[in-house]
Amino acid sequence: MDLEELTGLYDFSNRTVVITGGAGVLGGEMACALVGCCANVAIMDRDPSLADRLLDRLGCGPGCATIVYGDVLKPETLSQALEVITSEFGPVDALINAAGGNHPNATTGPDRSFFDLPEGALRFVFDLNMLGTIMPCQVFGRAMAENGSGVILNISSMNAFRPLTRIPAYSAAKAGISNFTQWLAVHVAQEYSPHIRVNAIAPGFFLTEQNRYLLTDPGTGELTERGRTIIAHTPMGRFGIPEELLGTVLWLLSPASEFVTGIVVPIDGGFSAFSGV
Ligand SMILES: NC(=O)c1ccc[n+]([C@@H]2O[C@H](COP(=O)([O-])OP(=O)(O)OC[C@H]3O[C@@H](n4cnc5c(N)ncnc54)[C@H](OP(=O)(O)O)[C@@H]3O)[C@@H](O)[C@H]2O)c1
Repeated sequence: MDLEELTGLYDFSNRTVVITGGAGVLGGEMACALVGCCANVAIMDRDPSLADRLLDRLGCGPGCATIVYGDVLKPETLSQALEVITSEFGPVDALINAAGGNHPNATTGPDRSFFDLPEGALRFVFDLNMLGTIMPCQVFGRAMAENGSGVILNISSMNAFRPLTRIPAYSAAKAGISNFTQWLAVHVAQEYSPHIRVNAIAPGFFLTEQNRYLLTDPGTGELTERGRTIIAHTPMGRFGIPEELLGTVLWLLSPASEFVTGIVVPIDGGFSAFSGV
């Protein structure tokens, strides 16, 4: 292996990557990096207009981006999106399941005990994260099975290793995503093709819209006690920035990780390694 061969592994020319929740903070960052590495990227979201904020960065190429409607909880919209993407770019090579998140009403606190968490909020969080990962894997995974190759990347969380306080549904759903990642990796390799790989990343703490209400005070912008506790338990002493996911994401999507399937990679500044003592 020399430098040219190594960099060639990260040339995504003529490869098509679909990103669910691609208009979001982390999915959007991945979309821009993949376009920068020459991929054809389909940014799929339930509100495609949210992706407008990425247009300047995506327009710089050298890859191509398209923005397509797809709700991860409505399989018929995913099938329609698959048709649109395939007709524009050809077969889908990779799927990133970046749609996901939590909900304030599924979070315990002084005004809401665990016993009073509303069913609707619990279902929202379970469905978005769990079914919202499984169903795109069914739609796009079927096409990969027919082609005999493909890569799927799921987004788990620190909560999957040990649950954080206050967010039981999100923690359980993310543990489910890690478990499902292993299950699907084995299933597709055994039943369809050893050239279909399924992995996940488990980001640590990145300040985004879905967790800002827990980590910072909306009035002052100062860290909450929870935010300070997280920093104190992150050996690197800070939140992550979305760009810091990219090395692992590109590695897992590329042939550089050809013999890697069924793993969940923490990207967490050491949070999951630290006992607190
Ligand atoms: N930020 C972190 O520190 C962190 C840590 C660990 C794991 N994660 C995970 O990383 C993933 C991305 O998180 P993020 O921080 O980038 O969140 P984000 O900015 O909220 O992005 C999520 C995107 O998914 C979209 N979405 C929501 N429901 C959808 C649906 N039914 N169908 C299609 N798209 C839908 C959202 O649209 P709307 O804005 O319209 O809802 C949003 O554009 C999530 O799975 C999250 O749990 C994040």
